[in-house]
Amino acid sequence: MDAIQVNDLTKRYGGFKAVDHISFSVVEGEIFGFLGPNGSGKSTTIRMLTGIVKPDEGTAAIMGHDIVKDSIRARESIGFVPEMANAYVELTAWRNLMFMGDLYGIPRSERERRASDLLKRFGLYERRDNQVRGFSKGMRQRLLLCMALINDPPVLILDEPTSGLDVESSRLIKEVIRELNRAGTTVFLTTHNIEDASQLCERVAIINRGVIIAVDRPEALRQAGSALYCIEVSFSRSVDERELSDIPSVREVMKFGDKLRLYVDDIDMAITSIVDYARIHNMKILALTTLAPSLEDIFVRLTHKTGAE
Ligand SMILES: Nc1ncnc2c1ncn2[C@@H]1O[C@H](COP(=O)(O)OP(=O)(O)O)[C@@H](O)[C@H]1O
Ligand SMILES: [Mg+2]
Repeated sequence: MDAIQVNDLTKRYGGFKAVDHISFSVVEGEIFGFLGPNGSGKSTTIRMLTGIVKPDEGTAAIMGHDIVKDSIRARESIGFVPEMANAYVELTAWRNLMFMGDLYGIPRSERERRASDLLKRFGLYERRDNQVRGFSKGMRQRLLLCMALINDPPVLILDEPTSGLDVESSRLIKEVIRELNRAGTTVFLTTHNIEDASQLCERVAIINRGVIIAVDRPEALRQAGSALYCIEVSFSRSVDERELSDIPSVREVMKFGDKLRLYVDDIDMAITSIVDYARIHNMKILALTTLAPSLEDIFVRLTHKTGAE
């Protein structure tokens, strides 16, 4: 069975489609990432999966439970850490966990046992009687994970779990996520950071403007992106993209303001050809920069392709 199954899920705000007919599935036992720039619909998708907002179209199921028709059981299968969440800062770490366990109706002795286990596992046990007020951002994020796990859910949903954390906290959180996954928890997370995605996820979906444009293993996506180099060039007069696409080794040309971006297989051959092209057509090269392929390039190329189809 798939841990998460999503079909044509759609959310509109007014006339605007924040999430536009997305479909994907998360296999039990995997770490699956939703990778996309700000505003691409990641949190909206999570809000639908966790029952905070109702989808306008489509269906989704968590561990086989429909998120609308069987919303209580779907929600019981999830541990959830929202984006920008916070624990109660005036309470201690321990009290926060007891409070959460109480909400889930977990009997007291069981609650205490799980809270101790979780706090130890996340390196917070020594600080359990301290108010959260004095915790660093990384400690708070770890506590939120403990709180999400107090009812021992099969699926953990995390909205930008490492965003805004220092390197050390981010590393710790990633370690904890991997460890939980090894112990059997399915993880669905969002991130706008390709490094985090490739360090954590077995598969990622790239989402842009509410649409899934690719689902693959992170390394496969990165290689697809880095197979091409990017050259940004501006000439002394305006040049049509199509003219440049005939240059040897150039795969794709896009206009970026007054500059052109050329995606090329062989950077050396491409630069020589660009220089020749300018000379033959009596133009000056005003600027020429080579750019390392970034996540943005991958997004841009994938969205460009999607748009062209
Ligand atoms: N409650 C809302 N009302 C109107 N627009 C919204 C609401 N929530 C999100 N949006 C819009 O939907 C788009 C996707 O937002 P979101 O899912 O938060 O993106 P992400 O988490 O990928 O940054 C954005 O353009 C955002 O402005
Ligand atoms: Mg978000």
